[in-house]
Amino acid sequence: MGRMADVNDPIRSDWWRHAVVYQVYVRSFADSDGDGIGDLPGITARLPHLADLGVDALWITPFYTSPQHDHGYDVADYEDVDPLFGTLADADDLIARAHELGLRVVVDLVPNHTSNEHEWFRAALAAGPGSPERARYLFRDSPEGKPAGTPPNNWSSVFGGPAWTQVDDGQWYLHLFDSSQPDLDWRNPEVPAMFEGVLRFWLDRGVDGFRVDVAHGLFKEASLRDQVVEPGGTPVSGAGEMVERKVTDEPMWDQPEVHEVYRSWHRILDEAGPDRMAVAEAWTQTVESMAAFVRPDELDQTFNFAWLLADWSAESFSEVITSTLASVESIDAAPTWVLSNHDVMRHVTRYGGGAQGLARARAATLTMLALPGSSYLYQGEELGLEQVDVAPEDRQDPSYLRTGEVGRDGCRVPIPWGGTEAPYAFGPGTAQPWIPQPADWAPLTVEAQAADPSSTMAFYRDALRIRRDFAWTAGEDVTMLDAGDDVVAFTRGPVTVVLNCGTTPVELPEGELLLASGPVDGTLPPDTAAWLH
Ligand code: GLC
Ligand code: MG
Repeated sequence: MGRMADVNDPIRSDWWRHAVVYQVYVRSFADSDGDGIGDLPGITARLPHLADLGVDALWITPFYTSPQHDHGYDVADYEDVDPLFGTLADADDLIARAHELGLRVVVDLVPNHTSNEHEWFRAALAAGPGSPERARYLFRDSPEGKPAGTPPNNWSSVFGGPAWTQVDDGQWYLHLFDSSQPDLDWRNPEVPAMFEGVLRFWLDRGVDGFRVDVAHGLFKEASLRDQVVEPGGTPVSGAGEMVERKVTDEPMWDQPEVHEVYRSWHRILDEAGPDRMAVAEAWTQTVESMAAFVRPDELDQTFNFAWLLADWSAESFSEVITSTLASVESIDAAPTWVLSNHDVMRHVTRYGGGAQGLARARAATLTMLALPGSSYLYQGEELGLEQVDVAPEDRQDPSYLRTGEVGRDGCRVPIPWGGTEAPYAFGPGTAQPWIPQPADWAPLTVEAQAADPSSTMAFYRDALRIRRDFAWTAGEDVTMLDAGDDVVAFTRGPVTVVLNCGTTPVELPEGELLLASGPVDGTLPPDTAAWLH
């Protein structure tokens, strides 16, 4: 494998500008010890799958000590591994083995909130109102003159219900997510100091970068004033399925002070080496506010959720491509692209499911992989997995538990690796995984798809192999072509890309066909994309 040396190649210190990053949702990737929950040794054992697939890096969701109320996004100790997932030595092994295979490792950092079991929060509860311990979080009293049961303001949790929980002595603490995830007060200097230590801790262990959770959070308007809710608007927007953007007044998100934090992190990353990066999860309201996170002295990338939110239409895909490239151009940042993650409906299902959903998913993926910048893949999309309709008694997402609305469990079902019935080699033996897998997944396993050259997995592998030959050298300029209302078409370097979002076949442009997302015979059928040379 010619890629073995990449990790140490100084020419590729900006590897992330062109990388394909594969998201590993740790609970659901691979289980080594038969408890039905994925873990770090499970990931290490399956790294060859990622190297064979041809990705450049993996991003691993939180595996730190956590009571798991939000499956690891509630961190009780940022500098240790939860026993559910292994040990620090297992993390070291994973990083070392990944690097041997030429894969970079990005870990998740959760700075907006801790777990309610973090030692700071326990100390805050014990110390009482007015204490320095409480001042690391956002504890407030009920507003003066209002009845004792009135929360300090009208904010709602992203996961539903009020964003405040009252403790025994009558004070309230803010949690923009679950009540087990108290928000930190980033105006308290102890908080940034703690996270600088956490960054250094993981950089010293050899990680190549960080995915910054809720990067647009951290600071709230200091007054903690009420949010002005427009009629018909949802009171809070922020993550996951809650992507309807009706609210414009957001005193809880995207405050200017947050950028100073990212400037300091930039310096810490630079000290650790020229090739360390950070990518922001920032659900901001505009492309301009998004671009602010990737100014030259801040973070390196931010997820481009507009691509994931685009409808199945040439007009919306083309619009997102053009506006994304324009927004990063002036600041020389690298764009990113993403179609699925652990918070949203899998894109096969979003595009309608079944054969047509899969055809569209493959076509959108092929289009994405030709674009400059980096692409983020979510585990299982290379198998063409659909969103699973998880039975109510098996749902575990805190947003489901708080609201009763179907949550995010359906995109988090454990990966089928082999065999013909559950657990499909997810773990050893017959132990069933933490979310049950569907009975009809036998044809979708990694093992089954490896034997089939027309499988979705083979398609991803071909696409990534061909991409590697041109994407790192083709430059970042894209020229949009006019190929009719239903077609997205552009050139980048030597490659021409066409995506047919319409209902009738269209002419293929001149050139040698490098790869198509489905069968083509002279023309490009609906729901299909192609790369030509
Ligand atoms: C991010 C994560 C999501 C988590 C939330 C709270 O949006 O992607 O999974 O629930 O932050 O940490
Ligand atoms: Mg396990």
